[in-house]
Amino acid sequence: MTSPPLCILGIETSCDETAASVVLRDEKGGGRILGDVVLSQLEEHSAYGGVVPEIAARAHVEALDTLIEEALLRAGVTLKDIDAIAATSGPGLIGGLIVGLMTGKAIARATGKPLYAVNHLEGHALTARLTDGLSFPYLMLLVSGGHTQLILVRGVGDYERWGTTIDDALGEAFDKTAKLLGLPYPGGPAVERAASSGDPERFDFPRPLVGDARLDFSFSGLKTAVRQAAQSLEPVSEQDIADICASFQRAISRTLKDRVGRGLKRFKAEFAAVDHPALVVAGGVAANQTLRATLQALCDEHGFRFVAPPLELCTDNAAMIAWAGAERLAAGLPADGLDVAPRSRWPLDAEAKALIGSGRRGAKA
Ligand code: KG4
Ligand code: ZN
Repeated sequence: MTSPPLCILGIETSCDETAASVVLRDEKGGGRILGDVVLSQLEEHSAYGGVVPEIAARAHVEALDTLIEEALLRAGVTLKDIDAIAATSGPGLIGGLIVGLMTGKAIARATGKPLYAVNHLEGHALTARLTDGLSFPYLMLLVSGGHTQLILVRGVGDYERWGTTIDDALGEAFDKTAKLLGLPYPGGPAVERAASSGDPERFDFPRPLVGDARLDFSFSGLKTAVRQAAQSLEPVSEQDIADICASFQRAISRTLKDRVGRGLKRFKAEFAAVDHPALVVAGGVAANQTLRATLQALCDEHGFRFVAPPLELCTDNAAMIAWAGAERLAAGLPADGLDVAPRSRWPLDAEAKALIGSGRRGAKA
């Protein structure tokens, strides 16, 4: 869609990353990140083995103003050059969302520029258009600490959830598995590291919902099986841990192969006219090389292009929020009023049924 060039300031504070970014959308719909800063709160939370909402909210308050200044500086622009402000307003931890959205509102009020209250999941969903200029429709697998969803991206503001987890999010399964094996937080990288010297065939862990006609996911049984395996081996050796981690990743790979494979088939059946179908992956778990290789092989098998944005744009950042704001503005979608409220729960697909226990409560993607 053509529209005048747009320069958008994005703000992200929905979980444990404080981020600000300035993104340019050119008249042809191409995107460029002009300035981008992310401050991770990993250290503040690591002693607690997870994100503590009160600590997160306080850390956002302390850092956000400076990060916005820094993003503008790196972009070489001032607030006068900005066409709109985009701030994450859900889903996520409510304290952090309030900090980011209130800051966005204050800047909008002071400058008279429009404000877009952006759904964090929409940020993830549209990133592949910023990085790879992907056209609609495409399929997205979002695998993070808060969400595990397969989403059909039909257009800006037009999403259909095809599958979601009915219990733990995939990143959460990695984090819980790491914790019960005594590995450090965040669990994903620790499990991946341990798995590299393990035997993936040693344990035959369950692969819940494999073969199910729906496209949903389930990971809590896997975590329970890991606990039982570890308990049966007490005291566990380093090699046992490595073997458990490798077998755990193998069970997940097989699950993804089945669940996502079905999604690719459904996409082909529903969009037979799309010449170059694509699967996009987003979320912190997308860093995992074994899972990436599984998804790449699956896409090769089904004739899909596999799009994995650079890691810093797969995990939480404000460039994706700025970009979602730019896409909304360019598509002619209305800005939000300054009375817009943050929403800790905010499904991308309003029609999709909420599934009990789907992902970590209050956490975001
Ligand atoms: O998207 P993200 O950065 O933010 C939140 O969801 O908050 O994802 C973080 C999640 C954590 O659960 C972390 O353990 C997982 O992504 N993760 C990984 C890897 N790196 C991060 N999981 C598996 N393998 C990895 N290499
Ligand atoms: Zn996220």
